[in-house]
Amino acid sequence: MTFTDTEKAAIVSILGKVSGNVNALGAEALERLFLGFPQTKTYFNHFDLSHGSTDLQTHGGKVLGALVEAAKHLDNLEGSLSKLSDLHAYNLRVDPGNFKLLSHSILVVLASHFSADFDATTHAALDKFIAVVSHVLTSKYR
Ligand code: HEM
Repeated sequence: MTFTDTEKAAIVSILGKVSGNVNALGAEALERLFLGFPQTKTYFNHFDLSHGSTDLQTHGGKVLGALVEAAKHLDNLEGSLSKLSDLHAYNLRVDPGNFKLLSHSILVVLASHFSADFDATTHAALDKFIAVVSHVLTSKYR
């Protein structure tokens, strides 16, 4: 999957803004995920899922940090996400349907925090970016 120059510019611009605040934004995305889609909590029994918890901040930071990093490798997402793909497919075995739910939650967080940047072009580019990342992370299941 390739990205146009316009898509790349939109993705890099927003993810650049995310990079300074990954823990808080990531925690909010997870909180929206768990509130909106409680079935996703089953993967996180070992976490404290209360509002603003350290677990939410730390894990949210890892997830959004991975997206910030991925945005630096838009021409080689398979390669750059290979380890994370192994983890989700072989160790965690997360049901692929959950990726759409998390993607939705992340998109809502970005839209609400960066509303001035979130025109239709940027929306579509980010949607595609997160969908491609999700596709890579769910591509090794067997
Ligand atoms: C772990 C990213 C989707 C469940 C991780 C880690 C990262 C990550 C960076 C930490 C890896 C490490 O510590 O080496 C992502 C990204 C996703 C995604 C970028 C999609 C955009 C999901 C989904 C679920 C999930 C949809 C389940 C609903 C988990 C779990 C862990 C994990 C259970 C291990 C947590 C722990 O025990 O520390 N993910 N993930 N991930 N992910 Fe994902």
